[in-house]
Amino acid sequence: MIEMENVSKWYGNFQVLTDCTTQVAKGDVVVVCGPSGSGKSTLIKTVNGLEPFQKGRITVDGTVVGAPETNMSKLRSRIGMVFQNFELFPHLSIRQNLTLGQVKVLGRSEEEAAERGLKYLDRVGLLAHKDKFPGQLSGGQQQRVAIARALSMDPMAMLFDEPTSALDPEMINEVLDVMVGLAQEGMTMMVVTHEMGFARKVANRVIFMDKGAIIEDCTKDEFFGSARSERAQDFLAKILH
Ligand SMILES: Nc1ncnc2c1ncn2[C@@H]1O[C@H](COP(=O)(O)OP(=O)(O)OP(=O)(O)O)[C@@H](O)[C@H]1O
Ligand SMILES: [Mg+2]
Repeated sequence: MIEMENVSKWYGNFQVLTDCTTQVAKGDVVVVCGPSGSGKSTLIKTVNGLEPFQKGRITVDGTVVGAPETNMSKLRSRIGMVFQNFELFPHLSIRQNLTLGQVKVLGRSEEEAAERGLKYLDRVGLLAHKDKFPGQLSGGQQQRVAIARALSMDPMAMLFDEPTSALDPEMINEVLDVMVGLAQEGMTMMVVTHEMGFARKVANRVIFMDKGAIIEDCTKDEFFGSARSERAQDFLAKILH
């Protein structure tokens, strides 16, 4: 589904990604972890073209990211992205947040968009809140709306960038539960997170990054069993405490 080959990126002289190569098969759940500043956000944002890169190649479902012939807004509309800070439109109701992209980008009718959006809102357990505004919801609820919004677009894959790290501890699980459900239904997911419980439960693979490079790309069992690099072991020891 997603193939990255030797992706490198620089900000001026600073190399933020170095020869990153990995594949995500359909239905795979890949957790990306690593220290702050190691390039995790940048890596997943290259997948849907939110971050351009200077070297290497990325294809998503056979479409080459950033190629002149690729319709990037069309491709981007098929890749759901969920950020740390929800990024809902504060001046729009939950229902409007759910329908806007479907109408504007996918050309669906208001009715069709509302039907779909509310179906996913129900799925994340928030149908009763459809007429509220984002500011009237808790962080965990807003993040679940953001996930429902992404799902309403019928994504072929979902990218998550630390979706629970801005949440109070008691709200983390309600968001993780939704993500676990998605994973178990076979959604293709790349998830930047330090929630190792989530990784243990549903990840097929774990990617560990350090200084812009992919240091480990292994099965969950390998990663938790004998994370090979010293850097990864060090990191795991820190976050598991
Ligand atoms: N627009 C930018 N210009 C210059 N450097 C940048 C820019 N955006 C990010 N960087 C640098 O690129 C590196 C990787 O950033 P990135 O946000 O991908 O890291 P990260 O692993 O997601 O970190 P965190 O865990 O803190 O979210 C960092 O050193 C960061 O300072
Ligand atoms: Mg980040």
